[in-house]
Amino acid sequence: MDTFTLKNGKVVSYRKLQKGDEQALARFNDELSEQSRNLFTPHRYDADTLAKVVERAEKGNDLVYVALDGDRVIAYFFLWWYDSPFPVLGIGVLDEYHGQGLGRQIMEKLIEDAKAANCDAIELTTALDNKPAYALYEKVGFKCLGQVDNIAGDGRVIKEWHMYYPIKPNVVPPPRKHCSPV
Ligand SMILES: CC(C)(COP(=O)(O)OP(=O)(O)OC[C@H]1O[C@@H](n2cnc3c(N)ncnc32)[C@H](O)[C@@H]1OP(=O)(O)O)[C@@H](O)C(=O)NCCC(=O)NCCS
Repeated sequence: MDTFTLKNGKVVSYRKLQKGDEQALARFNDELSEQSRNLFTPHRYDADTLAKVVERAEKGNDLVYVALDGDRVIAYFFLWWYDSPFPVLGIGVLDEYHGQGLGRQIMEKLIEDAKAANCDAIELTTALDNKPAYALYEKVGFKCLGQVDNIAGDGRVIKEWHMYYPIKPNVVPPPRKHCSPV
């Protein structure tokens, strides 16, 4: 079993998203604070969207994980377009698990996965006022490319920082539309 150890000593497991996780994932979204949900709405959580999320994960288009405390999803994280040179990273952790080193371990795992898949670089966007996330991304080696318009999962268009983690030397991600694959 793959695990992360929190700063308080608690051990939580993680695994790839699979068919049957749809309700637990929707519950994860419901359990986020309003503030966290505003910062992390990668897509809608209706049945049709969740079916597409699972289908893309099972096909290998996206690399999608959940971290679990028992059978409760406490973190949801992924590399969208994992089958391309420039996957897009997303991460959300339930509020009561913040500050325990989980985000950092998740970032390290996703970076390792992108390297293993021989990707050129990892991209992400983050809200201009999301200081905890920005600090985490910088700490693990992401660099800021400037501001872009990001289309959030609920359709809002938000000005965000565009960041990337270089894997191959001298590669900068080409322009793209910043939106969800589902
Ligand atoms: C951003 C997020 C993933 C961080 O996860 P976490 O498990 O709390 O992070 P960690 O405990 O591993 O902290 C890692 C680093 O992040 C930074 N950080 C975390 N919380 C912070 C805070 N409240 N203020 C400033 N920096 C903070 C620190 O640099 C920290 O490093 P340190 O451990 O050396 O102090 C989490 O806060 C979260 O899910 N937030 C809501 C959703 C969200 O914003 N997702 C990202 C959208 S782009």
